[in-house]
Amino acid sequence: MGSRQPACAARDLEVGRDGRAIVQGVDLVVERGRSISIEGPSGSGKSSLLLTLAGVIPPLRGEVSVAGSLLPPNDPRRRADIRLLSVGLVFQGAELIPELTALENVMLPARLAGASSPDAEERARAIMVALRLGGLTDRPAMTLSGGEAQRVATARAVINHPPLILADEPTGSVEPELRGIIIDQLRIAARLGDSGLVLVTHDRWVASQMDGRYTIRDRRLERAVANS
Ligand SMILES: Nc1ncnc2c1ncn2[C@@H]1O[C@H](COP(=O)(O)OP(=O)(O)OP(=O)(O)O)[C@@H](O)[C@H]1O
Ligand SMILES: [Mg+2]
Repeated sequence: MGSRQPACAARDLEVGRDGRAIVQGVDLVVERGRSISIEGPSGSGKSSLLLTLAGVIPPLRGEVSVAGSLLPPNDPRRRADIRLLSVGLVFQGAELIPELTALENVMLPARLAGASSPDAEERARAIMVALRLGGLTDRPAMTLSGGEAQRVATARAVINHPPLILADEPTGSVEPELRGIIIDQLRIAARLGDSGLVLVTHDRWVASQMDGRYTIRDRRLERAVANS
């Protein structure tokens, strides 16, 4: 354990849906403090790979470790515990809790990790202001627009500065100015947490902002050009 362990390590991973292989032979190590992008056509398995790295869905074969903890394929509760402590996940569809306010959604991981309510609220408000969500704190999540919900989901994913941040098209529904702000906030959180950052995107500029670049092609995760 500790910061010497990679943020995320996948070995001979086979990502599946309904028992069907989607991406095969994934060997991927994301060191702490490093960032990568994953591109690929719609339906190629980007979200499925991210959800497997997060332990939301178990792999068909191979294994994933997050910050040195192996995600047990047959123990979803243990995977959820590891996820709570070590993973910040921005789902493609945001997946906020609709009945809670935007602020309560962002505070939730901090509260679950043991932060006091005032501390969680202060941190949540600061990150929400940075993401231009300051005026939306008290809005029920179900009333937010797609781009607003996505930014709330980003704030929720980074509030604990987890060792692994996984973001599925976090800039998919916003204009270029906000896109830059979202990437900046993900980077700041990753620096504060010495985190590994894995970002799925269809946006070349966003991909070019990461240290390394990968593409899913023909069911394989391929290393693309290095950015730096
Ligand atoms: N819950 C599910 N049950 C069965 N099949 C699924 C499920 N979710 C996704 N799939 C299938 O798995 C494949 C990969 O889907 P995935 O969502 O990972 O693609 P993606 O690369 O993220 O696409 P997009 O760019 O459109 O978000 C697709 O063929 C999709 O239809
Ligand atoms: Mg997807």
